[in-house]
Amino acid sequence: MAFMACKSSTIENNNLSIDIHSAASRSTARVSHLELNVNVNMEEHMLDAEAIYTLDPNRNEDTIYFDTKDLLIEEVVDVNTQKKLPFHMFNADPILGAALEIVLNKQSTTIRIKYKTSKQAAALQWLKPEQTAGKKHPFLYTQSQAILARSWIPCQDGPAIRFTYNARVKVPVELMALMSAENPVTKNDSGIYHFKQTRPIPSYLMALAVGDLAFKSLGENSGVYAEPIDMEACAAELVDLPKMMKAAENLYGKYQWNRYDVLILPPSFPFGGMENPELTFATPTIIAGDRSLVSLIAHELAHSWSGNLVTNATWNDFWLNEGFTVYFERRIMEAIEGKDYADMLQILGYQDLEQELKSFGKGHEDTRLYLNLASRDPDEGLTDIAYEKGALFLIHIERTVGRKKFDLFLKNYFQSNAFKTMDTKGFVEHLNSSLIKGDTSLAKLVNADQWIYQSDLPKNKPTLTSKKLDAVQLALNEFKKGKPAKDINTKNWSSHEYLYFIRGLGDSIDTKEIEDLANVFDFASSGNSELQAAWFDHVIKHQYKKDYTALENFLQKVGRRKFLMPLYTALASTPEGKKYALEIYEKSRANYHYVSVQSLDELLK
Ligand code: BES
Ligand code: ZN
Repeated sequence: MAFMACKSSTIENNNLSIDIHSAASRSTARVSHLELNVNVNMEEHMLDAEAIYTLDPNRNEDTIYFDTKDLLIEEVVDVNTQKKLPFHMFNADPILGAALEIVLNKQSTTIRIKYKTSKQAAALQWLKPEQTAGKKHPFLYTQSQAILARSWIPCQDGPAIRFTYNARVKVPVELMALMSAENPVTKNDSGIYHFKQTRPIPSYLMALAVGDLAFKSLGENSGVYAEPIDMEACAAELVDLPKMMKAAENLYGKYQWNRYDVLILPPSFPFGGMENPELTFATPTIIAGDRSLVSLIAHELAHSWSGNLVTNATWNDFWLNEGFTVYFERRIMEAIEGKDYADMLQILGYQDLEQELKSFGKGHEDTRLYLNLASRDPDEGLTDIAYEKGALFLIHIERTVGRKKFDLFLKNYFQSNAFKTMDTKGFVEHLNSSLIKGDTSLAKLVNADQWIYQSDLPKNKPTLTSKKLDAVQLALNEFKKGKPAKDINTKNWSSHEYLYFIRGLGDSIDTKEIEDLANVFDFASSGNSELQAAWFDHVIKHQYKKDYTALENFLQKVGRRKFLMPLYTALASTPEGKKYALEIYEKSRANYHYVSVQSLDELLK
């Protein structure tokens, strides 16, 4: 098959690894631009839409493949001739959905796919008015990463395929539509909104939200969207957005995406944040009242470089998106809050990593940075290995070569690969050619192969310290030796110190100590969701019934998977606990997005 090999190397842009999660790679035909026309039917929970694709003229075959999941494809038309094109839907795979094959004409340059979404469209969550803050209007939002875009747009759903887009979205007049693009700032009387994204993006960054929304500017090119009733609190929480952007630009170069706005969603959003270009989607659980959880926004902002500008080629390379972003996030926080603050974040992150490594068990393949997700849902790669082992590897390189050199290297990496795709092999090559440069003793110290291709952590991993958390450790020791909670010196503690304290209590404390802490600190009703979730873990382990109402309310309201999984897991660890977990789940399941439902169904089945 020498002929085939030659064929693909001339067409496939840079010889990247094949994407096992997309049908698009079955031929060389690619899209380059999308005109999307959507009617949003809030009553029927359906999108009635047309996707008009411009095709890249370089192709060897006249057959093109799209990914779909539960879509009803009504018709495919060659826009040049206005004639219908034959198409075929393959049998659906439970994870990947159904490939759509379209037979083009030699001359076809533009095609129109008319389609409808289904009730079970995985990316979409349709909320009733009661599930919003304002309680008066329904709400819709999408979550496309990793491979759910195909459930609301027929698309070449792999991260290595980029396209620009324009969209026209029609919604009921009481509502406003927003996308991962240039956005409106006010509602209009027609209910028709126009969007343009002039920079090429992969399909997993396609996003849409529809609801009773308002906008508030926070700076020259940043602002916040939220339901009107929440706006004041959201804007106050995010005032530092312009500062964050400046810090990020100072580190790794100019922001490339026009504006940076944040949309605060209803609490069912399954993630903390999602880096949709120009408009990060975020959970309302970061609105703590004291700006203590804004590092999550620094994270999503950092993706404007690591992820959106330089994108992982396949989901096996996911650590390139998330590990870099966690590293970058903490550099932004260091720049605006200082080193002591960033050190705390890093140690809390390392605790997450230790937890993850422990639950995988020694030598597990999924503790490698470069993953093997063949025949698996890419969602399985969403672990703290990509995030925290990835970030720790970058800290290790930074310390080995020095920060100045490393920053220069990263800046150059983002610049020279902007709007391109990167795989793990390509990153190692870049590392070798622009940082290691044949220095064999340096290569040995960096030890990239072990970090990337082997399980667990190398022996010579960076050591982490935090003055502030050392002080908390002393307080923990005293408390465990019998000092009453009210006498602990918590002056100047931020929520990060409290989080470290709660985590550090371990399994050894008794019910009397729990009671003492509950009376003094009342973590169950904290405005900080991280503290609540960490506290509820003890509540469950010790069956501290007084806080069960708060726990139930939290589980019913919040749909963020990161909080739900550990709490339901802890509940379900005993037979009676499991019964109780199922009771709560039954009441709450309708409040959760598909992403969380998938994981919880699996856990509680
Ligand atoms: N891009 C991710 C979320 C994601 C990853 C969704 C893979 C679906 C598949 C986002 O940037 C993220 O990492 N969110 C974290 C934020 C945290 C690490 C600060 C989250 O949601 O918890
Ligand atoms: Zn991320």
